[in-house]
Amino acid sequence: MGSPRHFLDLNGMEAGVLQDILVLGATYRRGESPSGKERPLKGKTLALIFEKPSTRTRVSFEVGMKQLGGDVVVLGHTDTQLGRGETIADTARVLSRYVDAIMIRTDSHEKLLDLAGHASVPVINGLTDYSHPCQIMADLMTFEEHRGPVAGKVFAWIGDGNNVAVSWIHAAVKFAFTLRLACPESLPPPQEVLDWAGAQGGAVSFGNDAAAAAAAADCVITDTWVSMGDKDEKARRAALAPLQVDESLMKSAAKQALFMHCLPAHRGEEVTDGVIDGPWSVVWDEAENRLHAQKGILSWCLQ
Ligand code: CP
Ligand code: NVA
Repeated sequence: MGSPRHFLDLNGMEAGVLQDILVLGATYRRGESPSGKERPLKGKTLALIFEKPSTRTRVSFEVGMKQLGGDVVVLGHTDTQLGRGETIADTARVLSRYVDAIMIRTDSHEKLLDLAGHASVPVINGLTDYSHPCQIMADLMTFEEHRGPVAGKVFAWIGDGNNVAVSWIHAAVKFAFTLRLACPESLPPPQEVLDWAGAQGGAVSFGNDAAAAAAAADCVITDTWVSMGDKDEKARRAALAPLQVDESLMKSAAKQALFMHCLPAHRGEEVTDGVIDGPWSVVWDEAENRLHAQKGILSWCLQ
């Protein structure tokens, strides 16, 4: 038996595999089954571990797994012995005897890697403090649904250099698009991720000027100013206030520019109502595509 097909981070995966997963997701979105089977994951069970809240990830994984004929077990932090100190490694060994794959949303990327290192079934990153790769698969599907291939396009990330930004940087390299990040000096993306992108020849630039990043961009993206687990709320809001995505910023982007946000949104903070409810916004398609993208990811991990 080979190693399990983990879905941990986009930077560690082959570009061709990521493209294949997007194709799987788009096939499911059309209501077709890539394998021709109506219930390709019949008899399979996915464990979902949540150490942080979730609406989209929780529901899209459960509904997606069930639509593929499989089942789920949902474990909140206080439901398991993890909350009482059983190690991640032992939990991985035990869950691997019961289920066919494990998705985890955790406050620590180390825990994700520890789980994957000790599980004999595929482990999926459902968001950590460091990255959120499943989200970006749905985002790429959404852009391609509306505007065609992402390769060669210009994306602008306006806001916190957070976990979602990290996965966007990974994606820019793997999918060969330009990514301009505008973040406060105090909240940059991790330097090693920028260095990795540079070493890979990625077209990723980082600055503090929202207008410069958004100018003629094909897509403008933002995220909450205070992520789950962030403590320094007041300082964050002050640093991020100049980086609100408003109508005038969107008007400086390309004529057909899209606006994306992984949600949940904080209207009036990182984005105005006029943008999120405006002609640029594809946020509801983006949320829907979480379902189709998860089905692509699950199919790849489990087949
Ligand atoms: N975008 C996203 O991951 O949403 P949830 O936190 O609701 O899962
Ligand atoms: N950056 C956000 C994303 C939520 C889906 C957070 O980690 O809270």
